[in-house]
Amino acid sequence: MFDFQYYAPTRVVFGRGVEARTGSLLKELGAKRVLLHYGGSSAVRSGLLSRVAASLDEAGIAHTQLGGVVPNPRLSKVREGAKLAREFGADLILAVGGGSVIDSSKAIGYAVAEPDRDVWEIYDRRRTPRACLPVACVLTIAAAGSEMSNSSVITNEDTGEKRGYRNDLCRVKLALMDPELTTTLPPYQTAAGCTDILMHTLERYFTQGGNMELTDQIAEGLMRTVMKNALILRDDPANYDARAEVMWASSLSHNDLTGLGANGMDFVSHGMEHELGGMFDVTHGAGLSAVWPSWARYVYRDCLPRFVKFARTVMDVEGTSDEDTALKGIAALEDFFRSIHMPVTLKELGVEPTEEQILAMAASCARGAGGKKGTAKLLYEADMAEIYRMAR
Ligand code: NZQ
Ligand code: ZN
Repeated sequence: MFDFQYYAPTRVVFGRGVEARTGSLLKELGAKRVLLHYGGSSAVRSGLLSRVAASLDEAGIAHTQLGGVVPNPRLSKVREGAKLAREFGADLILAVGGGSVIDSSKAIGYAVAEPDRDVWEIYDRRRTPRACLPVACVLTIAAAGSEMSNSSVITNEDTGEKRGYRNDLCRVKLALMDPELTTTLPPYQTAAGCTDILMHTLERYFTQGGNMELTDQIAEGLMRTVMKNALILRDDPANYDARAEVMWASSLSHNDLTGLGANGMDFVSHGMEHELGGMFDVTHGAGLSAVWPSWARYVYRDCLPRFVKFARTVMDVEGTSDEDTALKGIAALEDFFRSIHMPVTLKELGVEPTEEQILAMAASCARGAGGKKGTAKLLYEADMAEIYRMAR
């Protein structure tokens, strides 16, 4: 077991109808002027945005709105939001949406807190932020875990770079989580969300040591729970209890709980997906399932005990040898992805990169990680290119 620090400062208010309390809870946080930030049309169509705005009015909190955040949120929207927040004198950004809206809000928070600096310098690793305006959220999709993570991911549409950045400054102060809000999701988004949730724990699970029994059991329980409920939601999208299980798993899977004591985090599949997102604008969870099986087959020999443990305790399969068990575990997860209609190759994802594009993505991924990345196996640019080729 390695030493660790655990910091999860987000106040979570979870359950049916909690969004009606947005105003009073934000008032407790001292918010007076709020930028209400949202995505495309789902929050408008469902009436959620008006309900949240009415709750702010009731609490006497002034607010202005900015919608239009797209999946793989764009830097230009962040700049637009920062300008508006400054002009309005916002003291808090309220995200009504999923990971994309929350991440855009976090980036706006950074931009407003240090108005004289370019916010992209943070995502480009050219400087460390010193402050972030408080962010709160009403979550509408269980997936990215941004509601409790210290991460945000922004795409610079001028360069095609999608970059994640982690810092505790951006942790959400208050997360309102009503599982019922996620029942309007298209099945593809529900499945992609479940995939992303699984992946946040998988990325922490495959390491070369330090793994604690308690952390492992939490991680394994979370993965089994997500798979079980993803199948329930595939057949019964309105199932409240399954929605609730998956929503809470979204937060716990990416607030660091499922990796405590372990020897770092892998996150190569994520890094490689971010390149796909930057170049081809794919759905994050679907990009992950398209890459993971190839990543796993590329690295499993170097992390065999963990792949065997995963196969037995999470996928419930056994082979004729450790290697066979590991491979059966990988195949079983691949089958699970197929069963919820997630792609397991780039072709199924709808992307057919040329050799030149593969080399460009591998180079960018390695560069973004400082040249190398991975805890299951340390990978370099050439390894990443090979995994993209395997995933075709
Ligand atoms: O824009 P609207 O109309 O709201 O539609 C959204 C969007 O098209 C729709 N949606 C959301 N809630 C809905 C709904 N549709 C109907 N009913 C609802 N209740 O779903 C689509 C996807 O939304 P998005 O916010 O993009 O999903 P997600 O939460 O998966 O976020 C993905 C982004 O988060 C990043 C990803 O890379 C990607 O950019 N990530 C952020 C992380 C973090 N901050 O910690 C970690 C993750 O690994 C991930 O990288
Ligand atoms: Zn993710």
